[in-house]
Amino acid sequence: MSEQYPNYEDVFKAADDRYASLPYRRTGRSGLDLPALSLGLWQKFGADYAYDTQRDIILHAFDLGISHIDNANRYGPPHRAAERTLGRLLRRELAPYRHELVLSSKAGGVFGPNPNLRGGSRKALLSSLELSLRDLGTDYVDIFYHHTPDETTPLEETAGALATAVKAGKALYVGISNYRPDRAEAIARLLRAEGVPLLIHQPRYSLYDRSIDRNGLADLAVEEGFGLIVYSPLAQGLLTDKYLESIPDGARAQNSDFLKPDQIDETYRSRTAQLNKLAEGRGQSLAQLALQWVLRNPAVTSALIGVSSKEQLDHNLEALNGPEFTDEELAVIDEYGVHGTGQRS
Ligand SMILES: NC(=O)c1ccc[n+]([C@@H]2O[C@H](COP(=O)([O-])OP(=O)(O)OC[C@H]3O[C@@H](n4cnc5c(N)ncnc54)[C@H](OP(=O)(O)O)[C@@H]3O)[C@@H](O)[C@H]2O)c1
Repeated sequence: MSEQYPNYEDVFKAADDRYASLPYRRTGRSGLDLPALSLGLWQKFGADYAYDTQRDIILHAFDLGISHIDNANRYGPPHRAAERTLGRLLRRELAPYRHELVLSSKAGGVFGPNPNLRGGSRKALLSSLELSLRDLGTDYVDIFYHHTPDETTPLEETAGALATAVKAGKALYVGISNYRPDRAEAIARLLRAEGVPLLIHQPRYSLYDRSIDRNGLADLAVEEGFGLIVYSPLAQGLLTDKYLESIPDGARAQNSDFLKPDQIDETYRSRTAQLNKLAEGRGQSLAQLALQWVLRNPAVTSALIGVSSKEQLDHNLEALNGPEFTDEELAVIDEYGVHGTGQRS
């Protein structure tokens, strides 16, 4: 076999039983099933972390049945690096499995100084998609998202650009992220008129951020028939036991612009300690309790997690085997899982 056409099985052979245990859930009223836990490459999949570790995590996830990998043009650092990381794997180890993978990309978030490469314009979205396909080394993404609402661009233009991506065969489905319910409803209507239904919305959701339950987005998803894939279900690690005593070396609160040490204060620690005690009483960890809690919401299709090791991934998957919550336990969670704890909005 020449170098150009490797024998892929020598490079990586996925586990035969990869679909045996992780449950899949239907995405809204579409025909697409997503794993209950999906893997996001926002942090620690850029040029700042060892490629071998990134590779091991992604292949391990696939072996465990996590076929959905979430990405965006701006994930890194630097921007685009996480798509390049995944692209390296797609050219070799994961090349024979492209048809099984559900890959997403996003555009429209803050991205460089050029005014036309950010926001929800046709130019920003479709130019970015071209570059994502180039970096990923694939002809299409499965889900293409508008990443961040942009009230300065007509929603018709954004919907039209997303529909074009599908009609051009460069995306199979489209999604939105961080949209308020009124804008989500409006773009769902526009997309329907284009003949490209809104597949999914990607909002933040955790015990510490219950906005979607309060602002009507979860209800809207069910009514409109789109799925929800919820990000930061562990509140970036705040909903684990790692920060109860101190900030461990290498943890996100030490090395990320998005989670700062001052978010870990006494109020956070006292509430989290109570949740941790509850989790222990249920025979699970706080991370597992937090993931199980988001997945019990019937509007949620998948919980989108980040991990910095294979061990975290194995640990988090155990969330799917926890005992049902009792009403008393849910009341304790409501008391200590207080919206906004440790988080900046
Ligand atoms: N659409 C958007 O605007 C948007 C925004 C944010 C995220 N997202 C998506 O959502 C994905 C997940 O977001 P996220 O990374 O914030 O999710 P998360 O699951 O809330 O946090 C993940 C982080 O928590 C820590 N962690 C995970 N499991 C752990 C365990 N068992 N024990 C201790 N620590 C653990 C790890 O950080 P350390 O080990 O490094 O401390 C890990 O990177 C992203 O990759 C991205 O795809 C989308």
